[in-house]
Amino acid sequence: MRILGIETSCDETSAAVYDTGAGSGRPAGRGTLLSNLVASQVDLHAEFGGVVPELSARAHVERLPAIVKESLEAAGCGFGEIDAIAVTSRPGLLSALLCGVSYAKGLAVGIRRPLYAVDHVKAHVAAAFLNTPAGAGAPLLSEEDLPALALVASGGHTLLLKMSTPVTFELLGCTRDDAVGEAFDKVGQLLDLPFPGGPHVEKAAAEGDPSAFRFPIGTIRGHPLDFSFSGLKTAVLYTMTKMSPKERIARKADLAASFQSAAIRALVDRSIAAARQTGIRSLILCGGVAANRTLRQTLSAALASEGVRFFVPPTVFCGDTAAQVALFGACLAGWGVPPVSDDLDAVTTSELFDPGGR
Ligand code: KG4
Ligand code: ZN
Repeated sequence: MRILGIETSCDETSAAVYDTGAGSGRPAGRGTLLSNLVASQVDLHAEFGGVVPELSARAHVERLPAIVKESLEAAGCGFGEIDAIAVTSRPGLLSALLCGVSYAKGLAVGIRRPLYAVDHVKAHVAAAFLNTPAGAGAPLLSEEDLPALALVASGGHTLLLKMSTPVTFELLGCTRDDAVGEAFDKVGQLLDLPFPGGPHVEKAAAEGDPSAFRFPIGTIRGHPLDFSFSGLKTAVLYTMTKMSPKERIARKADLAASFQSAAIRALVDRSIAAARQTGIRSLILCGGVAANRTLRQTLSAALASEGVRFFVPPTVFCGDTAAQVALFGACLAGWGVPPVSDDLDAVTTSELFDPGGR
């Protein structure tokens, strides 16, 4: 089965083709990624310091048809050899999501193929089943490793999930305010670093002392697996307002390292707490912030000392790509989740927050 994946939930336009292989009804980790093309809009939004929804939607509309065509060419197939289409329908920016959803609905009707609606957050977790950009070799994660915990750390979400099958998730904890990636981006802005701040904060932090400033970790009383990052961001702001402009520049690396250290402590502490509470022995780290090497190393070491196996997708699949959308679409089909009808709509929130959808 060949699935065309389409992703336009935020500021990346992406199309991918995933082949589940002959006869594999339950394809997680056993198929081949035939292509995965991503057109980033980072340059488009950089001057605004954040994603501008209207600009994002216009760029998706302009770029999507060409990206799909190129992705099919790279996979060596035409529309005729595509068996199903998978599109991110939630969560994300409404105008951006609508571009992919409208295109995919039209295409599904046009080529008479089933359409699968993909939740972007779940697709980030499914990325752990993809190993290399070519999809060859042994999968990072296999079904035998389930149930697994998943720590989704992105620009829009910070969640702890339990994944029982590739398509069955339970929400264990989530952020009550900012997402961790959002906190990285806001601190990047305070430190006068380019957008998006995450990778630049990581780079600056490498030169700094993580114990230079003691920033607080937000906790939610009675909800030990929930997160809060707005206090941390404000603590960085208050510390900086007490400094002279010269001092702010001189201490940039120490501020970045101390912020990063506190953010990572929050993620690692909750992950260990979730492993102890549930007794689950596998954990997947995913989402854009999973590209952070210090986070990977710290979490990996902490989990090893608890006897919990650690899985993380290659960096290329930590961000927003259609590869994980196509793979998750294949999982939906393989686990018998029905395709959607042509009244599919875009929704700004994840299914994980719907009553009954958790
Ligand atoms: O998953 P993603 O590509 O998009 C969303 O679904 O939000 O995540 C983007 C987020 C941004 O906030 C970005 O700054 C952050 O991931 N990020 C990082 C790093 N690389 C990307 N944060 C910390 N360290 C990094 N190396
Ligand atoms: Zn994402």
